[in-house]
Amino acid sequence: MNRPALEGLRLNAPAYVKHARLMAWVAEMAALTEARDVHWCDGSTAEYDRLCAQLVAAGTFKRLNPELRPNSYLACSSPSDVARVEDRTFICSAKKEDAGPTNNWMEPAEMRALLQTGDRALFRGAMKGRTMYVVPFSMGPLGSPIAHIGVELSDSPYVAVNMKIMTRMGRAVIDVLGSDGDFVPCMHTVGAPLEPGQKDVAWPCNTTKYIVHYPETREIWSYGSGYGGNALLGKKCFALRIASTMGRDEGWLAEHMLILGVESPEGKKHHVAAAFPSACGKTNFAMLIPPGGLPGWKVTTIGDDIAWIKPAADGRLYAINPEAGYFGVAPGTNEKTNFNCMASLKRDVIFTNVALTDDGDVWWEGMTDVPPAQLTDWQGKRWTPAIAKETGAKAAHPNARFTVPATNNPALDAAWDDPAGVPIDAIIVGGRRSTTVPLVTEARDWTEGVYMAATMGSETTAAAAGQQGVVRRDPFAMLPFIGYNMSDYFQHWLSLGAKLQAKGATLPKIFCVNWFRKGDDGKFVWPGYGENMRVLKWMLERVEGRAQGAENVFGVTPNYQDLTWEGLDFSAAQYQQVTGVDQGAWKAELALHDELFKQLAWHLPAELSATKARIEARLAG
Ligand code: OXD
Ligand code: MN
Repeated sequence: MNRPALEGLRLNAPAYVKHARLMAWVAEMAALTEARDVHWCDGSTAEYDRLCAQLVAAGTFKRLNPELRPNSYLACSSPSDVARVEDRTFICSAKKEDAGPTNNWMEPAEMRALLQTGDRALFRGAMKGRTMYVVPFSMGPLGSPIAHIGVELSDSPYVAVNMKIMTRMGRAVIDVLGSDGDFVPCMHTVGAPLEPGQKDVAWPCNTTKYIVHYPETREIWSYGSGYGGNALLGKKCFALRIASTMGRDEGWLAEHMLILGVESPEGKKHHVAAAFPSACGKTNFAMLIPPGGLPGWKVTTIGDDIAWIKPAADGRLYAINPEAGYFGVAPGTNEKTNFNCMASLKRDVIFTNVALTDDGDVWWEGMTDVPPAQLTDWQGKRWTPAIAKETGAKAAHPNARFTVPATNNPALDAAWDDPAGVPIDAIIVGGRRSTTVPLVTEARDWTEGVYMAATMGSETTAAAAGQQGVVRRDPFAMLPFIGYNMSDYFQHWLSLGAKLQAKGATLPKIFCVNWFRKGDDGKFVWPGYGENMRVLKWMLERVEGRAQGAENVFGVTPNYQDLTWEGLDFSAAQYQQVTGVDQGAWKAELALHDELFKQLAWHLPAELSATKARIEARLAG
């Protein structure tokens, strides 16, 4: 490292930082980026309040009306920085085949030259005129044997305050790190250096973006975006992409799954993990309120997005939620679709890209049946229902988000923070499919379940930049998040299952669901939301060996009479519409599985091709 640069820099490390490697790295990064200043986040409320006030002064935040939405803020991003950028996301493993055909790859040395070592490297001088925040965070309960620590260096105070909500962040993490603890270095810049005297903008970012992962050295480098998963590096970058490679190497699973607790009227508790692609109702499912027709059932949230799942000494799989907050999609959320979420959002929230009401509160499409007469949309323009009708302008961006502490959730499970995690009884996978895939199907065994998850398809949403509504294969809902070769990941699931079964362990049952089948009128047939409890109840009865079902080509689906219908008017004919297996549609579906398997041919586990052959034979016979 350049000595004079290091000497000239004030590292500002508090006396409680004892970790020489961490301090040397911070110094090196500050020198590389030419940060004006270094601030070590202690994670205190006072610091959070100070940074929020600073963001208000900078115009990034608007403080919301404290009477209507206490301790809450609204940030509106640049229109060019509103979602994860999958085409700018790279897995830079030493070998291209280890990143696999579903990931963008670049030779690590080439990427390092581009970002870090070359004369014109993007991080060189990238933080000029800005403070570099040192954000130490723990993914998972502090000090838990399942948790892992990261340190994000970012020139975005917006990132620092979001990380305070989304992770266990601050001094306590430094204490756990001690003088030599391991951490994943997470380097982030918005890529908008300020020359002396240059006025800042409310949402600094760069049109060039790179979200880069080096799996072998467990490093993350993110350039140019201040938004969500591109910038809050504990979430998708660490807890999924880097952690999935850690899981492969160490025998555990890092998954894009919510975790919930389900208690029966008799007081029996089960735990379920569920993988759905982005913006397919994970937060709603994680906070589900059972309908009145199913009295005594209770659902509690452990996590709404990510699960780290590890085998314990008893051979069972235990899951923790590595996060401490929710970064959820706001549009469509209301008291009917997600009452618990709306209750969580009453205070202490950072909203991003929703609309501002004239009395200083927030609104988004779907929040109320009748929109406010006028408001300021997420781009700062005047918005009225008439303007929306004429121009199609949305008040909130479709990927507008809320960041809120998990502890605000009235349905939070008592064990959400338990370092040991919770034992998983069932795993659900499912995408957004208007046709073809039945409401629910149980895999006959682990391999068939892995096949269902591996071949999952879903219609794309606004969570990622790009075309929406097209079906793409999204294996395990991990397509944008897997840190290594997808086929090796399938093998990891199969091998882990086989290993646990060989030890005599009972594996979770795997189910495939689709809440989104549409009728000829283009409307959803299944009411979804709380009514999904009926499906969940059947699954848990299957786990207990108490419920019936009928075999179909793909697995086992309940007959109409196998679900509880009290309190819901849903006819057998409607049920047929959401569960029917159409031979022609399935032939076409299997041809798409074929395409996926061709793409993933390198290292594709033979068990998956064999499972496909069995499905084809059933379909033909
Ligand atoms: C998310 C996503 O933000 O999946 O959770 O995009
Ligand atoms: Mn997600």
